[in-house]
Amino acid sequence: MKEIYVDNNATTRVDDAVFAEMRPYFCELYGNPSSMHFFGGQVQKKVDEARNRVAALLGASPDEIIFTACGTESDNAAIRSAIEVFPEKRHIITSRVEHPAVLTLCRNLAKRGYRVTELNVDGAGRLDLQELKAAVDEDTAIVSLMYANNETGVVFPIEEIGAIVKEKGALFHTDAVQAVGKIPLDMATSSIDMLSLSGHKLHAPKGIGALYLRKGAGQGAARPAGKGADRPHSPCQDQRRWCRAAPQYPVARLRVRRRGGDPAAFERKGDLCLVGECLHVGVAGAFPRAAGHGGAVHLRPRLDPFLPVALQYR
Ligand SMILES: Cc1ncc(COP(=O)(O)O)c(C=O)c1O
Repeated sequence: MKEIYVDNNATTRVDDAVFAEMRPYFCELYGNPSSMHFFGGQVQKKVDEARNRVAALLGASPDEIIFTACGTESDNAAIRSAIEVFPEKRHIITSRVEHPAVLTLCRNLAKRGYRVTELNVDGAGRLDLQELKAAVDEDTAIVSLMYANNETGVVFPIEEIGAIVKEKGALFHTDAVQAVGKIPLDMATSSIDMLSLSGHKLHAPKGIGALYLRKGAGQGAARPAGKGADRPHSPCQDQRRWCRAAPQYPVARLRVRRRGGDPAAFERKGDLCLVGECLHVGVAGAFPRAAGHGGAVHLRPRLDPFLPVALQYR
């Protein structure tokens, strides 16, 4: 008996054309796009091109696309950023049929004191919009409802939902992991503030996702402070913001060299200096030093409020 694969909602085979286009970036053009030198710059151009393509698929603007590692991370970043933007709001609305990427986070937040409403669905998997209307209030930070269900295939009436959510001033996030590439989307005319997608559901490899974040949504502050190779802003902007985000960290007086700037303009304060994403420690023992990093500490995981901190200091 020949077995055939019919589980494309779980994951898809990498398309030959996708593989052919990505191949050089594993073995030849492997520079870090954040690096200031030529090897990074040529990859950065490709990252920008990829961002443009994702934006076009969604009818969005490129600076509204944040690359992540997967749909799960996009969902988490969306919900976490919403509660950070509205610290005074303690209510989150979702549904009982969301993917665990959303539901597990919401249930964890409920344990931390958030009021979480899980909307019901009927026997055909449909939401009751009256129930949503009754649930959303001034205390609601975010409503997170999926576009298309990964098990039942039910498509929620996203624009009707968006209209209800917007009336109360909450942010509207949709997990569109099962919709992107199957249902035409146009963020320019949509009420969606944030939208998650995942590459491996549409013939890209695992390990690639994106979060659409509407410009100005949540007072413009919902943007996670970068992720991996994703550089929607200049390194200078991002690093200044990270420094502000972590005032307890001893980099508050760091100054950074602009991408492509004169290497002689490399700036240094005391015994710390920052090159690209690395904090270099000038005097052994005077400042925290990352084990095994020869004095260069990767700042991003330390300062990004959305990523776990993995550094061990001696
Ligand atoms: C609706 C939905 N959301 C989120 C995810 C998680 O996506 P990823 O595997 O990229 O983390 C999935 C994956 O099955 C999904 O079907």
